[in-house]
Formats: sequence, structure tokens, C-alpha cells
Amino acid sequence: MSGLKKIKQPIKSEMEAFEPYFKEQLKSKIPLLSIVTNYVLRRKGKQMRPMLVFLSAKLNGQTNDASYVAAALIELLHTATLIHDDVVDETYQRRGFFSVNALWKTKISVLVGDYFLSRGLMTALNNDRIEELKVISHAVQEMSEGELLQIEKSRKLDITEEVYYDIITKKTATLIAACTVTGALSVDADKDKLALMKEFGTNLGIAFQIKDDLFDYEKTSAIGKPTGNDIREKKMTLPLIYVLNNADAKVRKKLLSTIRRHHKNDKKVAEIIQYVRDNGGIEYTYDKMIDYKNKALEILNQFDDSEAKEAMTELVQYTIDRKK
Ligand code: IPE
Ligand code: IPE
Ligand code: MG
Ligand code: MG
Repeated sequence: MSGLKKIKQPIKSEMEAFEPYFKEQLKSKIPLLSIVTNYVLRRKGKQMRPMLVFLSAKLNGQTNDASYVAAALIELLHTATLIHDDVVDETYQRRGFFSVNALWKTKISVLVGDYFLSRGLMTALNNDRIEELKVISHAVQEMSEGELLQIEKSRKLDITEEVYYDIITKKTATLIAACTVTGALSVDADKDKLALMKEFGTNLGIAFQIKDDLFDYEKTSAIGKPTGNDIREKKMTLPLIYVLNNADAKVRKKLLSTIRRHHKNDKKVAEIIQYVRDNGGIEYTYDKMIDYKNKALEILNQFDDSEAKEAMTELVQYTIDRKK
């Protein structure tokens, strides 16, 4: 059985029922909103977050209505942040198609992103899921902080490895952890289990973002969004941080000044990417990703064996092996 198939096996009926439920949350009487919303809905992503919610619920009990509320809320927030992120990062491709900002420009993207966000919050409130709402609202706050810290670092170009982990924990891992925590909350898991699910999700989320940052150094169109864009945005991720730390002062200075002055120049960006590749940046980053993956697996192994645990283990592996 393929990785993804194995992951979906125990949550097949949940993922099937999730689709119309998710769509239902976005019904609107405003024609323009419906047009954009339908466009976004037709291009769904990997849906790793809803899968995580349902698998976490299964790992800790039986999925129920509250699991669907959590899954929908998180996927709505995730979609909102992608719509906003493409405005912030000035990227025009998402999930293999034009991004919302490529088609409808900034104003509409900002407002549609807000709409997704508010629909998510309303879904939780209408179902009285306050604990889940707390966890996820906290994640949204962290995401904004992470994105702003990232912008600050791209202006100063003084990011360290430690700050890098702080940024990716905030902007990505906290929401992944919110998936595993709210999945467990939806089935009334006890405090110890909730703490384990948080640890697990955080480590998985860090590995997930490291993988995303590695994609950016690949020459591929298979992932459905542009690569090489991080340097264009002066976003310094682990492969680059590592080679900068290991270059002699002169080379380091040269690299930094190229990034500062020529980050929009495709040829210069390609040169930097090549330098990173030639100087061990990819290998170092890959090893770190494996460390976080292993930490996640160690935590998962504290749970009793079950079909959900097997699928979750597969999902951890998929996070680092995935091709998009
Ligand atoms: C993309 O997330 C944003 C990051 C946190 C890197 P996904 O890779 O899960 O996006 P979709 O939903 O599958 O498109
Ligand atoms: C993702 O960071 C963080 C979000 C909260 C959306 P990226 O900017 O690297 O995500 P992609 O590569 O555009 O999906
Ligand atoms: Mg981006
Ligand atoms: Mg990225």
C-alpha cells in the first residue's frame, strides 16, 4: 500500500464526510465571494491538517462531531494564511494554479483571507468548542508573530539558527500541533495525552517546515508553487544559515551583500542556491529534519499500538518523503 493510502485507511469515511462539511462552512450570498471561494475549494491541497486531526482523535478515542469542527476550523485558518502568505511573499502560484492574488490582486485576497479566518472561528463558536478555539486562536497569534519576526530578520539579514527554529515553530509548527491537540481534545483525552500530542505535533511541524524550506532549493515544478522564492524575498532558511555560518568572513560578507542588493536577480539567486548546494547546506538541513522526525516518532511510540498509530507513523514519514 502506498504511503498516502496507508495514512488515509483508518480515516477514510471521515475524510469523505469532511469534504462537503468543509464546503458548507464557506457558503455566502455575496457573488464575488462565492466565485473566489469556489476557485479556492476546487484546488484543495494535501489536507494533511484535517488528516492529523482525525488521526489524533482516533489515536485517543473515537472521532465525533467535535473532530469535524476542529478539522474544518484548522483547514479554514490554514487556507486563510496561504491566501495571505502569497500576498506577503508576492507569489503567483499555489497548488499548481494561479494564487488568489495573481487573479484578484491584493485587496480581494486580504478580504477573502479574513473571511476564511472568521468562518473558521464562527464554526467553532457555533458548536461551543471553546477549548479548541483557544488552542487555535493561540496558533493564529503565533503565526502572525512568526511571519513578522521573519520579515524583521529578512530586513536585517541577521538570523541565527536558533531564531530560525523559533520562526518556523511559530509560523508552522504551532498550527500542526494545534491539529494533534484539538484532535485529542475532541475526544476528551486526558492532560498527559494532550501534552504528548502537543510535543509530537510541534516536532512534526518543525520537520514539515524544514522540508518545505528544502523544496525551495530544488529545481522542480512538481510542488505546485514557485521555488527559489525564499531568497528572492530575502528569507534566510536553514540551508543558507548553515553555509553562512561556515563560510570565511570574506565569502560571508560577499554572500550577504549579494542577497541584500541582488535578491530579485534570477541569475544571482541561482548562484547563491548553487553555493548552498555545493557547501553542504542541503545535507545539514536534511539531517536536522530527520532529528525532528525522530523526536516525533519517539513521542508517538509512547502510545499503544493501533491502526491509527500505524497511519500516524506513516504520516510522519510522508512529511519528509513527500514530493509536494
Ligand atoms: C504550506 O502548507 C504552507 C506551509 C506551512 C509550508 P501545505 O504544504 O500543507 O499546503 P497545502 O494545503 O497542501 O497546499
Ligand atoms: C509558510 O511559509 C508559512 C505560512 C504560515 C503560510 P512559506 O512562505 O515558506 O510557505 P509557502 O512555501 O509559500 O507555502
Ligand atoms: Mg510563501
Ligand atoms: Mg516555502
